[in-house]
Amino acid sequence: MLDKTLTPSVIVGRLDQYVVGQEAAKKTIAVAVYAHFKKIATARRDNATFAKSNILLVGSTGTGKTLLCSTLSRILGVPFVTAEATSLAQTRYVNEEIEAILQRLVDKAGGDIAKAQNGIVFIDEIDKLKAGGAEVQTTSGEGVQHALLKIMEGSPVKLDGGRYIDTTDILFICGGAFVGLAEIMARSHAYKYISVSKGDSKQMMDRLNARVKPTDLFTYGLIPEFTRRLPIVAHFHDLNQKMLVRVMTEPKDCIYGQFRDIFANEGVELTVDQRVFDQIAELAFEYKIGARSLRGIFEEMVTPILFVVPDRRDIEKVVVTSLFTEPDFVTRQPGS
Ligand SMILES: Nc1ncnc2c1ncn2[C@@H]1O[C@H](COP(=O)(O)OP(=O)(O)OP(=O)(O)O)[C@@H](O)[C@H]1O
Ligand SMILES: [Mg+2]
Repeated sequence: MLDKTLTPSVIVGRLDQYVVGQEAAKKTIAVAVYAHFKKIATARRDNATFAKSNILLVGSTGTGKTLLCSTLSRILGVPFVTAEATSLAQTRYVNEEIEAILQRLVDKAGGDIAKAQNGIVFIDEIDKLKAGGAEVQTTSGEGVQHALLKIMEGSPVKLDGGRYIDTTDILFICGGAFVGLAEIMARSHAYKYISVSKGDSKQMMDRLNARVKPTDLFTYGLIPEFTRRLPIVAHFHDLNQKMLVRVMTEPKDCIYGQFRDIFANEGVELTVDQRVFDQIAELAFEYKIGARSLRGIFEEMVTPILFVVPDRRDIEKVVVTSLFTEPDFVTRQPGS
């Protein structure tokens, strides 16, 4: 089912090539996914059932939740689909929408229902389903939660063409920014009755306080039955400026690498100084949308250069030394 070489540490290693930081979340997710497939295999062998542990990803916008999931899907090689909770709330036909998601999962499995039944469904923007939410919704967030609850628990769902898919073994990963959850947690985290020995108390308390409790999610607006189906919570931290620099320069498909390739195709070497990345990270940090604004700032910086370069065969190299000054153009020596 899952490639035998994919142990949790191998999964984390692969995620590291694309997702910067978020070490704790990566570990939590890698172990959860690994354990999930082990449990399926054991249950099948013993003809038993098992309790599924779906996963909730919590963290501010632009911290890598969706990126981590899409990377995970590539690594695992199991059928994987993504859906937006918001679009579920915008339709009157939630159940049809959910069927369509599962149909996509079957398609991803090449029509093999058995394979799809071991797949993963990622439902993003789950925080937008809060009960009594302000957004204009056709189906209430609570209604969508109930509909999702059914498939998360496991039930046969009829697909187009009359075939059924059983969702019992499908792993559900839900993600959301949960704006305001930190405040709820800060208010609710008073562990008066947990006694810890003096030595570990600080560390222990920090750990407990970093945990998102089911009751916090309930206060936020998810119905209790729904939060109970998401026992594993992976927390995504806000990215600091150093990490934002790494996002631009380190991942395999990072933005700097992408643009260096584009310039290389024009026969031009692009060099962006470290200072520039620091400047971009500083701006992006101010925008408070995590790594989301990096691409826009970077593209804005290189657009005027990319406008000029294709017409200038004499340019050999472009060096950007500051976000606020013109770049240096190094031209080819005649005859070279
Ligand atoms: N930890 C990270 N490592 C590398 N790139 C990242 C990271 N976080 C964000 N990015 C970059 O920022 C973009 C947005 O990230 P992503 O879509 O994963 O955010 P998100 O956490 O799902 O946010 P939202 O809550 O708004 O959906 C990605 O395309 C990616 O390039
Ligand atoms: Mg996202």
